[in-house]
Amino acid sequence: MSMHDDVSQILIDSPSLQARIRQLGAQISADYPPDSRPLLVCILKGAYMFLSDLTKEVTIPHKVDFMATSAYGGGLDSRGVVRLVLDLETNIRGRHVLLVEDIVDHGATINYLLRLLSTRNPASLRVCTLLNKPARREFDVPLDYIGFEIPDHFVIGYGLDIDEMYRNLPYIGVPTSELIERLIGHQGGIDGDDKPG
Ligand code: PRP
Repeated sequence: MSMHDDVSQILIDSPSLQARIRQLGAQISADYPPDSRPLLVCILKGAYMFLSDLTKEVTIPHKVDFMATSAYGGGLDSRGVVRLVLDLETNIRGRHVLLVEDIVDHGATINYLLRLLSTRNPASLRVCTLLNKPARREFDVPLDYIGFEIPDHFVIGYGLDIDEMYRNLPYIGVPTSELIERLIGHQGGIDGDDKPG
């Protein structure tokens, strides 16, 4: 039994991820002035794998830092309520900041982070997300760099989890209904609010 057996469909394979990340890295490197030393902020945990590949493709000098957020609960009532679990070490006043996310779904997490960080007076504040799932968007958030638009599937892999597992899959996949049933216990995760990532 392999973890791959718990995936019903590969939505984005590993070569496609790497090719797109190379393009994103080139675009970011061209957009920021060479001496602007942008700060790439990885939003843990889901973006850890994306950040580690993206930073290798950004060819201008830059720094990295980390933040972690967590949604309260899992039900519909929790929409928009985001908890800060880990804050930046860096003082971002006057710095060019690029938030690096694995997925923007309802938009609550990015909305929260943009509002929080803008109070710290960065020189610029942009968002780079590997995946954009607009179907369930509740917050109108500006996305500057998007890897892939995806349909309203529950997705796992390449940093995105189901019940904190399967983040290590090297591709973006759709879990089998049996896996969802086993780990979450109901089918709500497919189009409900037990969101991945
Ligand atoms: C996931 C994902 C994004 C957020 C997107 O994080 O990594 O940060 O949800 O959802 P939203 O657009 O509906 O806010 P999660 O809170 O599950 O934590 P994790 O990254 O540690 O898995």
